[in-house]
Formats: sequence, structure tokens, C-alpha cells
Amino acid sequence: MPQASLDRHSPFPAEAPTRADAKAMDARDPLAKARDLFQLPHGVIYLDGNSLGALPRHAANRVFETMRAQWGEDLIAGWTKHGWMDLPARVGRKIGELVGAPEGTLLACDTTTINLYKLLAAALAERPGRRTVVSERGNFPTDLYVADGLFRTLGKGHRLKLVDRAEDVVPAIDADTAAVMLTQVDYRTGALHDMAAVTKAAHAKGALTIWDLAHSAGALPVDLAGADADYAVGCGYKYLNGGPGAPAFLYVAHRLQASFMPALQGWLGHAKPFDFDGSYRPADGIQRTIVSSPPILSLVALESGVDTLLRWNMADIRAKSEALTEIFRILIDGVADRLGVVRASPREVARRGSQVCYRHPDGYAIVQALIERRIVGDFRAPDIMRFGFAPLYLRHVDVWDAAANLVDVIETRAYDEPRYRVRAKVT
Ligand SMILES: Cc1ncc(COP(=O)(O)O)c(C=O)c1O
Repeated sequence: MPQASLDRHSPFPAEAPTRADAKAMDARDPLAKARDLFQLPHGVIYLDGNSLGALPRHAANRVFETMRAQWGEDLIAGWTKHGWMDLPARVGRKIGELVGAPEGTLLACDTTTINLYKLLAAALAERPGRRTVVSERGNFPTDLYVADGLFRTLGKGHRLKLVDRAEDVVPAIDADTAAVMLTQVDYRTGALHDMAAVTKAAHAKGALTIWDLAHSAGALPVDLAGADADYAVGCGYKYLNGGPGAPAFLYVAHRLQASFMPALQGWLGHAKPFDFDGSYRPADGIQRTIVSSPPILSLVALESGVDTLLRWNMADIRAKSEALTEIFRILIDGVADRLGVVRASPREVARRGSQVCYRHPDGYAIVQALIERRIVGDFRAPDIMRFGFAPLYLRHVDVWDAAANLVDVIETRAYDEPRYRVRAKVT
């Protein structure tokens, strides 16, 4: 089904931004040219860069060249000749520029979940007398699963202290809190925590902080060092555009590195991996957090995504992200009662990341009907329609068109077809 052409008949109230307004914003957008750096299927409005970022045009060639000219020509010598072993640090340094991590504090490696395991284990070891980890009940499930599994393995009586609302986090921190483990931008609602304020409150009670930056890195300015954060992880395949299943990243503040004893003692985190020593001795600094051979092809793809972001300025990226989410929010808020949708994201732009979400009992079917119109958002159970706005490749007019189509799909009940209710494996 084609996207509804709604240019003449705006479904929005007269005072709402018009399609012409959105086009005018595109005309003066300092990031307009960034879109050309991505391969995007014709006619698709992609509002799912918070789940899987788009393909940077140069990534395919760079990966192909790494295979052909490096792996193909140099075989095992590639590890030294092409600096493959240094890729986690090299890509990490670049991600560090996006999230305020100084040299030597951030590596691109493993997955977000595995990195969380490493960091949480380290945090508990740093605070041996303390038994609780404060988090949110609505945190991304993997973060909570990891904690639960680690506590069971340790068998020392650790437990999660979960709160229901963001404002309950700080009051929940006490003398028994080993760590506060939060996702900075809520994956469902887009609500944004104040990293510096929560970290300060945690430190005041002697607790450490572990920040999950999955929905922050590449979408908004993050200042890990400035916020005095202790540990952080993040995702490579969302706003960093590293590709499906891209390596994640991990951050450990300098002051916590010397005492960091890895729970996952891998051979490449050893001080001298090629001594093949029978006993483990951690490498210096952040290198000890590395477990295994780095996935070179995936790291090259991730580096392409990060390089694309680094061509632009995070302040401009955030300014555009705010404009995009605000157009969508104003448009849909203006017709929310008519549509029967309820906003799940904060109203104030400063309190949310780069997504806006609405609840509707038929949210899944509505999202599927939009996808058939080539407007790609996603759905998060039980009823959340999630729309992510990646500032590098989305135009303001795309947002307007997406909002108009959302109205059309709901008002014409175009979603009310059995095929839209069939749940796919990935929603
Ligand atoms: C907030 C958050 N944390 C963790 C993850 C899981 O990341 P990974 O698949 O790299 O373990 C996701 C995935 O979407 C996420 O949104």
C-alpha cells in the first residue's frame, strides 16, 4: 500500500506545523547532506535507527577491502600488518569522542550484555560489603537478566532493588547499594536520565554507576568523564550504524582500572597473551577487559558508522534530533484524543532521547500497516508504538509524512486486517 499523499489535506489542527514548514526546516538543515552518506531504500521513511541503524555507503567497500586486500592477501600477518589487534582500542577511541570518554577508557568489543556482565561483576568486587544494585523495573530486560544471573553465580545474596519511576532512583540509593545500573535513555519511552545528577547522588552514598548508553551514543551528547561516571556500556548497531549485531562498547573510568579484576578472564586480556602463560595476569588498563579475538570485519563496519557520525557535530545532531522529535510530538499530541493514542514519552524535549512513543491497544497492527506503507517504526510490548529519529538520515518532511500516515492508518482503520496481527519473530 502506498504512503497516503496528504499534502493538501492536512489531518492536523491549523496551528500545527505544516508540511511546508517541515520542508523549510530541511532547506536550512546543517545536516542535510549527511543523508547522502547512507544507503536508504527508495521511498522508505526509516524510524527505526534506534533499533538497527542504516548502512553508511562506505561501509560495504571498507569491509570488502578488508577481506580482499588484508585477509585475502596477508592472511595471519594481517593481525600485525594491519593493526587488527588494535581495532577495539582504535574504534573505542572514536566512540569515546562521541560519549566524552578520554583516551584509554573505552573499547569496542563483545556485546552490550556481555560487557554489562563484566562491569557489574567488577562493580560488585569494588564494593564487597554491599548487596544491592539499584535499577528500574522497566530497564531493558537483558540488563536485569544479567544481574540476576551474576548474583546467582556469586551466591553471596546480592539482589536487585527495582524502582518503577525515574524519580525514585535517587531515594532508593543507600549504604547497601553497590551500584546503580541504568539505561540513560529508556528503550521504551525514550525518557532521559540526568547522568551527572544520578552519578553524584550515587557517589554521595558510596555507590558506583553503570550506564547503558544503547539509546544515547550517537543520538545525543554524552559526557562520561564530565559526569564522573564509573562504568558504561553501549550498542554499536543503533545510532552508531555499525550493522546488525555490531560489536558493542565498554567504558571504565581510569581510576577504576587498576583494581578491575575481570570476571571473564580471556587470553587476550592477559598481560602477555603470546607467552601462553599457565596463570592469568591482567593486561594494563582497559585492555584487560578484552576477552577474545576481536571480530575484525564487524569492527571495520562499526568504524565506518562511527566515522560517518564524527564528520558532524554532536550539538547539531542533538539540535536536529530535538526538532524531529518535537515535530512528531506536536503533530500527534494535537490529535491524540481523536486517535485514541497516549504518549509514552516525556513532553519536554530536554527529558527525552531521540524517540517518541505512543500507546495504543492495536499498536502492533498499526505499526505493521505503517511498515506496509514503507514507514518503518517498531513495537514494544505490551502496546508501545516506537518511533526513532536518527538525525543524520531523516528529513523533517519525513517526520511530517510519517505522522500524517499514522493518523490515516488509525482513522481509516487500515490496520484492521488479520495479516497485521501476525507476530513476527522480531517486532
Ligand atoms: C538498552 C539496551 N541494552 C542492551 C541491549 C542488548 O544489546 P546486545 O544485543 O548487544 O546485548 C539493547 C538492545 O536493544 C538495549 O536496547
